[in-house]
Amino acid sequence: MQPDWWYKRACIYSLDVETFQDSNGDGIGDFPGLTSRLDYLAGLGITCVWLLPFYPSPNRDNGYDITDYYGVDARLGTLGDFVEFIHAAQERGIRVLIDLVVNHTSDQHPWFQAARSNPDSPYRDYYIWSKEKPADADQGMVFPGVQESTWTYDTEAQLFYFHRFYKYQPDLNISNPAVRAEIMRIMGFWLELGVSGFRVDAAPFLIEMKGTDGQQGDMYEYLGEFDDFLTWRRGDAIMLAEANVPFDKIDQYFGEGHRMTMIFNFLLNQNIFLALARQSAQPIIDCMQATPGIPKSCQWANFLRNHDELDLGRLSEKDRQFVFEQFGPKETMQIYNRGIRRRLPPMLAGDQRRLRLAYSLMWTLPGTPVLRYGEEIGMGDDLSLDQRNSVRTPMQWTDTKNAGFSDAPRDGLVRPVIDAGPYSYANEVNVADQRRDPDSLFNWMERAIRARKECPEFGRGGCAIIDTGHPAVFAHACTWNSRTVVAVHNLADKDCTITLDLSDYNARQLNDLLGDKQYRKLEHNSTTLELEGYGYRWFRLDDHPHSAPSHNQ
Ligand code: NOJ
Ligand code: CA
Repeated sequence: MQPDWWYKRACIYSLDVETFQDSNGDGIGDFPGLTSRLDYLAGLGITCVWLLPFYPSPNRDNGYDITDYYGVDARLGTLGDFVEFIHAAQERGIRVLIDLVVNHTSDQHPWFQAARSNPDSPYRDYYIWSKEKPADADQGMVFPGVQESTWTYDTEAQLFYFHRFYKYQPDLNISNPAVRAEIMRIMGFWLELGVSGFRVDAAPFLIEMKGTDGQQGDMYEYLGEFDDFLTWRRGDAIMLAEANVPFDKIDQYFGEGHRMTMIFNFLLNQNIFLALARQSAQPIIDCMQATPGIPKSCQWANFLRNHDELDLGRLSEKDRQFVFEQFGPKETMQIYNRGIRRRLPPMLAGDQRRLRLAYSLMWTLPGTPVLRYGEEIGMGDDLSLDQRNSVRTPMQWTDTKNAGFSDAPRDGLVRPVIDAGPYSYANEVNVADQRRDPDSLFNWMERAIRARKECPEFGRGGCAIIDTGHPAVFAHACTWNSRTVVAVHNLADKDCTITLDLSDYNARQLNDLLGDKQYRKLEHNSTTLELEGYGYRWFRLDDHPHSAPSHNQ
């Protein structure tokens, strides 16, 4: 029998409390509002929610600038409201992951305030200081064009401090054991309150060699220390790392199964977009072939869009420019010289067939899918908002005032709702309207989630690429516990016919899983398959069409 590894079956949904549901009419989403929407998430089939930072914060980087790791920002509710939310989620079988943002604090955090004002404070060594401005201070900024330096002079300390991100986010000195002890205390606190783990913000920067004295040793080891602590406190808790690193660094993060449990597959994400742009299967095939094997308890997390820009920084210059041309041609759509600050539907010109193709890939590629709030109804973006806020507008629930997000006056919302154009809440981009329409993206998404949950093989199985002989068609098979599922995706807008060769599987029957039609018995282990432009199919091999997959290990 194998361990259950719940995160390999999970359908994760990420959301920001402040833009999901306001309960008290102040224009800001809050924990009671979120709790009132848990039945919605349960109905959609979500099994795990990842909350973006909700801690006290001056909120200059959407909460990724924290002043207190042990609390809830008063705008969003109280710690009591958080516990009620956790309880209600548990009642529905929904796990909760939270953001662990410990690469840096806010410059308003009491630790930084103590550190800058008193050289003898124990907090001085929580941060990274330099008397001189280091020669490379104008390199390595994460937000080029907005952030000028990685070292800023603090007039009170009369020293420069290091910050990988914005200047109001001083980096913590992880080589200081007291800082690592703080990190564990933070993890311990939230684990006691019932979370199932953490999305580890900026993991590569957390463990990078910081400062100028080069005193640190192998900082990857620290990830193992955190994992020891985590699994001792709660055996089934996980860490999901934000680590946009090349594949040859990945095994340092997974560390034989004793460091990070999951990592967002940023490389696959960028190659999916390249494949969509080129209408070619090849970028996905190349990427999957280059993907290293990972420890058996570890897992990739797959996503299309997140709360940041679509980062294309790991594509070649030529490929990146091509994706820009196809999906974000205007300068206002691009950001930090590497990304696109749009949601997916506008990038795909609202083409429902292509959207569903893209999500079908996300639900079937090996790993655990992560859906972002609003994706289930095809929400758009607001490019008039600053930087990445374009993709962080409030959830659209109804076609009534403020999209049902809040009762506050329209100009009193934390961010404006999208109320004009094709993605307006008044234009069927809302949950209530789409719920009534059997052909809506929302109802499609719910069916796709159900189908995905019936196919644990996509999350747990060994995966093999099937050669379709057609440049636009990507097909793969995932096998686990002697059962195989197959997915086929046509990335091009043109219809095509392929031969699906399943001779490696000795298959007798293809059973359609996502509502196309029932297929004939296979002859000679292969079949011709007609795919419409942007068409996709999911099949189970050799099974009774209506049987549920076995969940025995
Ligand atoms: C990564 C987060 O996803 C991003 O939104 C944030 O700005 C940086 N980390 C800094 O915390
Ligand atoms: Ca509120």
